[in-house]
Amino acid sequence: MKLMKFTAISCLLAFAVINGAMPAFIIAGGLIDMGYGSRGGSMVSGLKRSEEPIQPIPVSFDYDRAKIELGKNLFFEPRLSKSGWITCNSCHNLSTGGADNLPSSIGHKWLFGPINSPTVLNAKFNLAQFWDGRAKDLKEQAKGPIANPMEMASNHELAVGVLQSIPEYVQWFKEVYKDEKITIDNVSDAIAAFEETLTTPNSIFDLWLRGYDRISPTEVEGYVLFKDKGCINCHNGFGAGGNSFQKFGIVKPYDKDTQTLGRYNVTKNEKDKYVFKVPLLRNIELTAPYFHDASTWSLSEAVNIMAEYQLGITLTADETNKIVAFLRTLTGDQPEIIFPILPPSTANTQKPDRN
Ligand code: HEC
Ligand code: HEC
Repeated sequence: MKLMKFTAISCLLAFAVINGAMPAFIIAGGLIDMGYGSRGGSMVSGLKRSEEPIQPIPVSFDYDRAKIELGKNLFFEPRLSKSGWITCNSCHNLSTGGADNLPSSIGHKWLFGPINSPTVLNAKFNLAQFWDGRAKDLKEQAKGPIANPMEMASNHELAVGVLQSIPEYVQWFKEVYKDEKITIDNVSDAIAAFEETLTTPNSIFDLWLRGYDRISPTEVEGYVLFKDKGCINCHNGFGAGGNSFQKFGIVKPYDKDTQTLGRYNVTKNEKDKYVFKVPLLRNIELTAPYFHDASTWSLSEAVNIMAEYQLGITLTADETNKIVAFLRTLTGDQPEIIFPILPPSTANTQKPDRN
């Protein structure tokens, strides 16, 4: 009987966590409600943390263990590329915030891609994938880079053929998908399932939202400015972004890059020119350079550009510093990855081709 009750409570808790309602739940349960207390000052005493427009990243999800292990192998599998050298991790390096810290990525034959690589961390919170949102979800997205001539430069038949030539992969796919034949659909499904696990909970800001005070007064003031100045209108939700498409250069036309048309490429609608998916600001301090065109390496400058082009305001140096201090509290626990050991190729495995 006791055990049953325990289970019911943990289910409720899990439910609350998934709905981002953790603070309310905790407060309702009377466990923790520390308030901001003396450190916040009067400026923030009115904040109701459980109702803030940025929600804490859930701490746990339900995962299919076997599928995500397979997906992890594929994420680190160089043989999915024509050269046998490039992996998803090459450009979405999980050691460096899920991005490559380059203005634009280096792909097959050292080709430079046209656009900055966004992070894969928390990508599940995006309303669609890519800067222009051309893939509807992670599964659809994952098929792209394998066959992109400037990225991994393989094709789906070749990539599937390589996996099919390796008995361990055949066995893993069979266990997960109950199918003798490996398909590109299942390859992307497994990669997407692994990416779903790449979330970064427990940032200082999330802890604050949940009622724990490891944040500093300056950081909270930065958050208040972030809301008061209007950043929050576009950067909100679990990811502090990722849930709408917006024009870059709403108030003042963005002149540093007029070649990349953004959402227009998908819709061919004139009003979608220079419209991009609002990027997630989670872990933003780890993923310089900033913007689709990597026009700055400095987070302060990125904040000032946003103020100028999106809001038509000029921030004081003090305001910029505070907003940057707040943005740094969005860095969460990075996924702990045990580097996979991949099965060896066989005589039937396609040889790498660097041309
Ligand atoms: C050669 C570098 C490169 C490789 C390899 C690569 N990507 Fe990317 N990835 C990019 C770039 C650049 C973009 C942005 C492209 C765009 O928006 O037009 C991107 C976008 C994404 C996005 C969308 C994120 C967002 O916020 O919109 C996801 C998810 C992603 N890649 C996952 C993967 C996976 C999974 C693999 C392996 C199958 C992979 N990538 C391989 C460079 C790369
Ligand atoms: C009207 C919507 C909107 C508002 C308001 C807005 N942003 Fe943005 N933000 C965007 C879009 C869209 C981009 C992507 C621009 C691009 O690179 O094409 C972006 C990009 C960013 C980036 C770079 C992210 C990256 O990964 O490269 C940062 C940092 C940022 N915004 C912070 C802020 C701050 C701070 C404010 C308030 C001063 C703000 N934003 C206000 C829509 C907005």
